[in-house]
Amino acid sequence: MTQPRVLVARAVFHETVERLRRHAAVETNADDRVFGAAELADRLRDKDGAFITGSERIDAALLAACPRLRVVANMAVGYNNIDVAACTARGVLVTNTPDVLAETTADFGFALMMATARRMAEGERFLRSGAWTKWSYDMLTGSDVHGATLGILGMGRIGQAIARRGVHGFGMRLVYHNRSRLPAETEAVLGARYVDKQTLLREADHLVLVLPYSAESHHAIGAAELALMKPTATLTNVARGGIVDDAALAEALSAGRVAAAGLDVFEGEPRVLPALLTLPNVVLTPHIASATVATRRAMAELAADNLIAALGGATPPTPVNPEVLPLRPASLQ
Ligand code: 8YV
Repeated sequence: MTQPRVLVARAVFHETVERLRRHAAVETNADDRVFGAAELADRLRDKDGAFITGSERIDAALLAACPRLRVVANMAVGYNNIDVAACTARGVLVTNTPDVLAETTADFGFALMMATARRMAEGERFLRSGAWTKWSYDMLTGSDVHGATLGILGMGRIGQAIARRGVHGFGMRLVYHNRSRLPAETEAVLGARYVDKQTLLREADHLVLVLPYSAESHHAIGAAELALMKPTATLTNVARGGIVDDAALAEALSAGRVAAAGLDVFEGEPRVLPALLTLPNVVLTPHIASATVATRRAMAELAADNLIAALGGATPPTPVNPEVLPLRPASLQ
């Protein structure tokens, strides 16, 4: 049997690449450039498997240009960079990396919400600029996190991990909205109240977005939704750019219709809407919610586990479209 061929589309841990090399002929991207659509298709044309990140797009046109491709292993839990329906139609397996990043991402989401509520980034900029000359009673006063109402939109694994931090660690009240309701026992443990989206927007003191990006969640938070929020409320997004209408948010922040925002993800990232860069009341981070060494290792290893299993004819640990299994055998090219 010929060895399968794999592209590791971005730089990743040396150990992960070495492990893949024991199972496949591996092409890497030593410069860690983000390939454009044409170059990615070109490099995947003769490959059986792709190890990609959220920065690479797999769509119908790429699949048509790469008929040999059988597995796309995404080193991310979100997979809105992949046209899963197009993959399924061609019998291409898609895998992602759920669970391993949930607690780490929840830590960051909670920290970003706290930094936003307590104006930490603004305070740091103020101090570094030399503007701190005296104490004053209202200097950089923010809003409390403990005892406040935490609103979560999207109550999957990461949403629940953030909820646990808020409820058990900070005595927060919890309201949430999600496509499906949590089991009654889980709601009881968290004291969670399931509400419609409008009620969530109206009641949250700190609203955290943790839902997947899709056509339905595009601009789930726009001008109309922001108008329902309390002017004292904060909004934190650790989910995906595009869920929030960034221009509408910048407008609401500058008009004081919401107090502050914490954003780890952006529409069209790594570009950031210039209006957001100039606002004082927004904490901006470069899509790093899952960025701890241990978690990035776990994500890379799980993506490799998926790729190795699938190319070897086994069921991978975390398939997104398991209905394509078993995979068609590698074509003899
Ligand atoms: C990744 C993420 O850092 O897992 C996700 O969905 O957004 C992040 O953990 C990013 O997508 C890199 O692949």
